[in-house]
Amino acid sequence: MVATVAVLRGDGIGPEVTEAALSVLGACLPFQVKEARVGGAAIDAVGDPLPPDTLALCRASDAVFLGAVGGPKWEKGAVRPEAGLLRLRQGLGLYANLRPARYIGLPTPLREGLARHADILVVRELSSGVYFGEPRGLTATEGFNTWRQTADEVKRVSHVAFKAARRRKSRVTSVDKANVLEASRLWRAVVTEVAKEYPDVELEHRYVDAASFELLQSPHRFDVVVTDNIFGDILSDEIAAVVGSIGLLPSASFGPGPSLYEPVHGSAPSLAGRGIANPTGAILTVAMLLEHSLGRPDLAKVVEAAVAATLREVRTPDIGGDATTAEFLAMVHRNMSWLRWAHSPDEQDEKTPSYGWGV
Ligand code: NAD
Ligand code: IPM
Ligand code: MN
Repeated sequence: MVATVAVLRGDGIGPEVTEAALSVLGACLPFQVKEARVGGAAIDAVGDPLPPDTLALCRASDAVFLGAVGGPKWEKGAVRPEAGLLRLRQGLGLYANLRPARYIGLPTPLREGLARHADILVVRELSSGVYFGEPRGLTATEGFNTWRQTADEVKRVSHVAFKAARRRKSRVTSVDKANVLEASRLWRAVVTEVAKEYPDVELEHRYVDAASFELLQSPHRFDVVVTDNIFGDILSDEIAAVVGSIGLLPSASFGPGPSLYEPVHGSAPSLAGRGIANPTGAILTVAMLLEHSLGRPDLAKVVEAAVAATLREVRTPDIGGDATTAEFLAMVHRNMSWLRWAHSPDEQDEKTPSYGWGV
């Protein structure tokens, strides 16, 4: 039986990069697409950024792929597209968001040579923190949120980070603001406790302000960065700059049920409809989907290798080139055909996870 992938294209460049990603997945194996609305597109259609049938479809699928949500059109509305994405993450019980980033020689704003050997996996807590804490509210004169974290929430995401580190360079940097926030003091205590179960993994702690500085000063020093929901959101965009563009980064989110796959970037409203969005993040997201939900790390490797080869010569404007999304995609397909012809995977290959960013 072929796998069912729920596809939520969303807004802005979401549909464009999703189209590219699906064509790559389709070149790898047969699968069934079930489309549903999310974000601004769903608000326009039915007044709800996560209609009940969308969530039901996602729950019943083998994996969920989402393009991006949001845009200026919905900024002033009573309900925002982003709320749909947050409710989807909550509805699927997703708690660990993996965001790998590796420098592969693309132009970066960092000084020459500084980004070399940067290979960082952000493990972002996705279910709690200030994103979801109650009470929260907004009046004409006051806005407030609650930053709440339980020990169990910290524990389960910490295990994901330590396990991922074991398959990489065995180093975890836990990022918090324990010098100011109680929620962070709990975070630090729990991560330290969980670390005792992984004596082979080195753990260090950093305050988020110092970590932001160090990530730019010596990015090669980091391996796995485990952090809270909002810090993970911010630091992953910073790391995107280290490796060249936010258009490059994939992500996968795990919980008890179907996993959610989405590029790290947003709907990039100024690029929407122009055919120049970088589809790399979305295509590498397909590689994560192949590896983690469809059990095909061998195909994930082919996709990653094809993307890396393509980036040597074909680049969209965000990384200094003048290629269109379609031109980039066409070259990915050519490279994939070449790689699949040249490389016939043996059994050993199929068991070896790509990049080692998995959990
Ligand atoms: P953004 O990620 O959309 O854009 C940030 C910058 O990166 C912009 O300059 C944009 O042009 C560029 N960029 C992003 N993706 C790119 C790509 N694939 N190729 C080339 N350039 C790319 O972030 P933003 O501008 O802060 O947010 C725009 C909207 O997207 C907002 O409504 C925001 O809430 C939403 N958003 C959604 C998601 C998501 O759906 N997962 C993530 C982040 C932001
Ligand atoms: C991301 C985005 C989302 C987040 C928004 C759109 C809700 O920025 O996935 O990085 O903050 O988690
Ligand atoms: Mn973000």
